[in-house]
Amino acid sequence: MGKVTFLPGGKSVKARAGQSLVSVAGNARIVIPQRCGGHASCLMCRVIVESGELAPPTVLELRKMPEQDLRQGVRLACQAKATENDCTVRIPESRLKSVVAAALERQRLENEE
Ligand code: FES
Repeated sequence: MGKVTFLPGGKSVKARAGQSLVSVAGNARIVIPQRCGGHASCLMCRVIVESGELAPPTVLELRKMPEQDLRQGVRLACQAKATENDCTVRIPESRLKSVVAAALERQRLENEE
């Protein structure tokens, strides 16, 4: 049994080999956005592998994901399976959240001037 660490929160969760990342995250109440119920069609559950390993991409991932994304470690959490080894994955911030954070940072810098 390996463990999966989810960034940015840094929470580590034990995972059975073959368990999907969505399932592992769900056990720890970590939310990975998704809309299609794990059918590899919404592509909202993308995560980035920062270190460690996952099982190789599934047929659905190979079909749905751009090859370049897979090469850069982007995986679909509904498809990507844990192995016996540890790994660390990053759940990307939502676009809206990053825009708001950037605006707040700009405002903070303006107030300091
Ligand atoms: S949940 Fe929709 S692609 Fe993974």
